[in-house]
Parts: sequence; structure tokens; C-alpha cells
Amino acid sequence: MTAVWKTTAALTTETAPFAIRAERASDVVVREALLDASFGEGRHARTCQRLRDGRAPAEGLAFSAVHEGRVVGTVRLWHVSAGGIPALVLGPLAVDASCRKLGVGAALMTHALAAAKARGHGAVILRGDAGYYARFGFSAEKTGELALPGPFERDRLLAVELRDGALNDAFGMIVATGMKARRARIRTGGKARKLLIQAA
Ligand SMILES: CC(C)(COP(=O)(O)OP(=O)(O)OC[C@H]1O[C@@H](n2cnc3c(N)ncnc32)[C@H](O)[C@@H]1OP(=O)(O)O)[C@@H](O)C(=O)NCCC(=O)NCCS
Repeated sequence: MTAVWKTTAALTTETAPFAIRAERASDVVVREALLDASFGEGRHARTCQRLRDGRAPAEGLAFSAVHEGRVVGTVRLWHVSAGGIPALVLGPLAVDASCRKLGVGAALMTHALAAAKARGHGAVILRGDAGYYARFGFSAEKTGELALPGPFERDRLLAVELRDGALNDAFGMIVATGMKARRARIRTGGKARKLLIQAA
């Protein structure tokens, strides 16, 4: 049976309704500002960025959280090879500071993982705090023999299997395997910047 995945799911908090939907090209400027605010200007130097440089996210696996027409959250997944095993890397995940602790991050994670599973992906890897990601099934149990292309803390390299055993025997370097992204020049805050246009 073909799995059907809704691209928009309403979240129900009485005072603040949010929706999770597929990321749009028009989200790019707000998304960049959200990531700058969440991770700082140095975010492009982070190790996981090496897995995203010049690549497009995995098809159908980039999502925005929207509140009253404004993008307030983002998550993307990327194709990688985990020591030869096809997998996805998740990130960055960020929620606007004004909307945190309302379940938006959890909704983005739940939506993204379900969509990845529906598309037949076997495993998702990320670098992050187990204190947050354990609630979605992530642990370091299957990542002990994996490495990132740069500095990382072993206890922050986490994974969840969407298919049992998908990361059994995963050993070696995690490398990017996603499609090359298209670039476009846009204007933000008076400055022209080259930004990646999402192909998915
Ligand atoms: C992490 C983040 C995406 C969570 O978004 P959110 O919408 O607030 O998440 P949720 O509402 O689903 O969950 C909030 C809960 O997670 C907890 N939490 C948030 N970040 C955490 C962390 N790093 N470690 C442990 N718990 C964390 C909050 O304290 C809160 O706990 P509570 O429910 O007991 O109050 C958001 O805080 C953010 O954008 N942070 C800056 C960017 C970032 O650190 N991204 C993750 C990279 S590892």
C-alpha cells in the first residue's frame, strides 16, 4: 500500500495555532535569519554543515513551522552514506525564540521522521543533545563506530532507526551523498547574498 503523508498538519494549542508544512522557496530569507539568531554567525563552520555544503535537502524532507503566516521553525534532512549505509542526517532544527516550549520543535521532529519513514528511509542521524532528542528515539547506541568529517563529541552523535537493523554494522565516515543545490543571489538587509535554493 502506498503511504500517504499530509504536507500540512495542524497543531492544537488554544492560544497559538501552528502548522507544519513543506518548506517553500519563499521561506529562505526568514529561515536564514532564524538560523542566524538560533546558532550565531559561526553556524556555517559547524561540522554537520560539511554534510550540507552545496547540497539540496532530501526530496520532500524540508519543513517549516508557520504561525500566523510567519515561518517560526525549520528542519531539514539530507542524504548521507554512513560508512556505506544509506541514511539521512537531520538538521538544522530551530524554532524562533518567541515560540519555544510550545511543542513546535517536537511537531517538526515528529513530522519529519514520519515523512522520512513514509519515503522508505531506514535511519536518521544527527549531532545534538540526547537530553532533547532521546524523546524521539535517538541514542548513541548505533553511532559508536561512525565519524563526522570534523570535530564532534561522541555522546552527541545520535541516530534512530526507522527500519529495524538499518544501522547494524554501520562503520566509518558519514559523507554527503545528496543532489547538488542550485544557487540564487537574493537581497537581505540591503546585502546581496548567495543562498541555496532547495530543489526538493
Ligand atoms: C531545540 C529547539 C529546536 C526546541 O524547540 P521547542 O519548540 O522549544 O521544543 P519543544 O517545545 O518540542 O520542547 C521543549 C522542551 O525541550 C527542552 N529542550 C530544549 N532544548 C533542549 C536541549 N538542548 N536539551 C534538553 N532539553 C531541551 C526544553 O527545555 C523544553 O522542556 P519542557 O517541555 O520540559 O519545558 C529550540 O530550543 C531551538 O531552536 N534552540 C536553538 C537551536 C538549537 O539548539 N537547535 C537544536 C540543535 S541540537
